[in-house]
Amino acid sequence: MSRETSLFSGRPSDLIGRQVAGYRIEREIGRGGMAVVYRARDLRLERTVALKLLAPELARNDTFRKRFTHESRVAAAIDHPHIVPVFEADETDGLLYIAMRYVAGSDLRHLLDGRGPLPPAAAARIAAQVASALDAAHEHGLVHRDVKPGNILVDRGTDSDHPEHVYLTDFGLTKKSLSLTGFTTVGQFVGTLDYVAPEQISGRPVDGRCDVYGLACVVYETLAGHPPFRRDDDMALLWAHQYDEPPHLTATRTDLPPAVDEVFAQALAKTPDARHATCLTFVAALRAALLGGPPERHPPTEVDRRIAAADEERPKPPPRWAAPVFEPPGGPA
Ligand SMILES: Nc1ncnc2c1ncn2[C@@H]1O[C@H](COP(=O)(O)OP(=O)(O)OP(=O)(O)O)[C@@H](O)[C@H]1O
Ligand SMILES: [Mg+2]
Repeated sequence: MSRETSLFSGRPSDLIGRQVAGYRIEREIGRGGMAVVYRARDLRLERTVALKLLAPELARNDTFRKRFTHESRVAAAIDHPHIVPVFEADETDGLLYIAMRYVAGSDLRHLLDGRGPLPPAAAARIAAQVASALDAAHEHGLVHRDVKPGNILVDRGTDSDHPEHVYLTDFGLTKKSLSLTGFTTVGQFVGTLDYVAPEQISGRPVDGRCDVYGLACVVYETLAGHPPFRRDDDMALLWAHQYDEPPHLTATRTDLPPAVDEVFAQALAKTPDARHATCLTFVAALRAALLGGPPERHPPTEVDRRIAAADEERPKPPPRWAAPVFEPPGGPA
């Protein structure tokens, strides 16, 4: 067995205290489908980092390796308050790793599992921060492709006006990048299917609007407590993303105004052209629907300013959105 394989596949505790590429591993933070994330000490700069070690088979896949190198570099070059800063992305003895800022706190998956649906104001705050990160990435020509609660890290904010600070992570790390459609050679889809856009499923070209769709699924879940589509098996879920209309959020959240249903219908449209053009335009529309316009209780932050700008630029909805797309729950009024 090679050294790197034993490094990765050993019990998590085996790595504690060991040194990998200039980092001393302190403890395991968590693991996903293709990586283990550790809190570690950067021995050169004497600082705490999050060290992500990717499964060795990914290093052996040329497509993944190339995208990993390219997109880690692009992500590292984006200096944005809501994107986890990447310090280093490299390879040691056949093992790909990323050193990044250690975000104390939790991720949105854990938060939702522990607390259930969020109040509208909190959901809107989180949505705005993720949206600004995604739009910044898109401006750099980078599409995330794997927007999901597990990739949204939630840290304590600076004050009561900004109770949480949210970071987006894992650019270019989706296993879906291993093949065009996201299916492995044995025909299994990799990763969660709850947030995947129709064009990703069918293998059509993707752009930033696939992240608008993913973000809308995540924001829907923060408000409803579950993603828009829930099906018994994967094929039914893939079908739903491609052909079914999303259920009205207001059927679950009866406290929310019906206008939010139109916003989600647009953001979750099957065709990218019918969606909001940017993530912040989607969030601006959502905030307007939820809260009757952006609250101005604190001096506007950069994100607030970008939302306001997106709101102004927001095109009038095309005629087919002017009429309700769906009947309200319980039939027409
Ligand atoms: N920079 C970071 N600081 C602190 N914790 C982190 C950091 N990056 C990731 N984590 C945590 O590490 C855990 C594992 O992350 P990982 O990205 O491997 O899995 P995932 O995103 O949940 O699933 P997937 O493998 O499908 O991407 C998550 O719980 C996440 O909260
Ligand atoms: Mg992740």
